[in-house]
Amino acid sequence: MARDEVFLETKFWISDYGYDAALHAFDKSAGKLGVDQLDLVLLHQPLSSRFDLTLDAYRALEKLLTDGKVRAIGVSNFMPEHLERLLAETSVVPAVNQIELHPHFQQTALQMLHAEHGILPQAWSPIGGITSYGGGEKSTFDDPALLEIARAHAKSVAQVMLRWHVQEGRSVIPKSTKAARIAENFDVFDFELSSEQLAAIDALDTGVRGGPDPDSITLDNYGMAIPEA
Ligand SMILES: NC(=O)c1ccc[n+]([C@@H]2O[C@H](COP(=O)([O-])OP(=O)(O)OC[C@H]3O[C@@H](n4cnc5c(N)ncnc54)[C@H](OP(=O)(O)O)[C@@H]3O)[C@@H](O)[C@H]2O)c1
Repeated sequence: MARDEVFLETKFWISDYGYDAALHAFDKSAGKLGVDQLDLVLLHQPLSSRFDLTLDAYRALEKLLTDGKVRAIGVSNFMPEHLERLLAETSVVPAVNQIELHPHFQQTALQMLHAEHGILPQAWSPIGGITSYGGGEKSTFDDPALLEIARAHAKSVAQVMLRWHVQEGRSVIPKSTKAARIAENFDVFDFELSSEQLAAIDALDTGVRGGPDPDSITLDNYGMAIPEA
């Protein structure tokens, strides 16, 4: 497969924040992938306790962008206050903010801020995988409203959730270890949810986050050395 047929996206971990460390993180990632250029690179988290390091890492992304080593830059798990500060103190508007986003956790205020600045929301756990790990009792896969919409279209609940994201203009990164499900998750372009169905899914937001509070991530509790290429 030709290089330009594959979109390569990766993230830099908090242990590689700071200007020089983030520049070196590019060498590690590109080296492991065996490429000279990456399509999209994100900062994995805001580091609230060391936002100075977060900003310096983002400035390194800006340099990588200027040098043509990455084609687009962005962030992940940034909440409104992190984005506002980043926008005020750096030059390039992030192309993407990759955040937890599925029918049960929708972060509407953050999505409005994205729209205001032209930042593409990229949904992690887009089909609510995080709601099902450890036998989650309130898994998106068992949601009666989603099951009903899926039945109406003869599609799976996962396909309905992915179609909902696509119709509302979000990027999605569903994960599966099974080839049949990977194919199923791509097969969402032959049906359309009605505006009532989109609104019904919008109404499923519980406001309950599945992942960690981004402000709880520190170098002490989540720092780890990222191996060299
Ligand atoms: N930025 C961040 O902080 C962050 C945090 C978490 C995750 N992520 C990224 O987000 C991506 C996806 O998130 P995720 O893995 O948490 O959740 P997800 O993609 O919403 O769900 C994955 C789960 O759903 C199952 N699944 C996949 N397709 C299915 C289908 N068609 N029908 C039924 N079950 C299906 C998978 O099991 P099987 O494998 O058995 O199919 C797995 O248990 C990951 O690749 C990860 O890199 C980012």
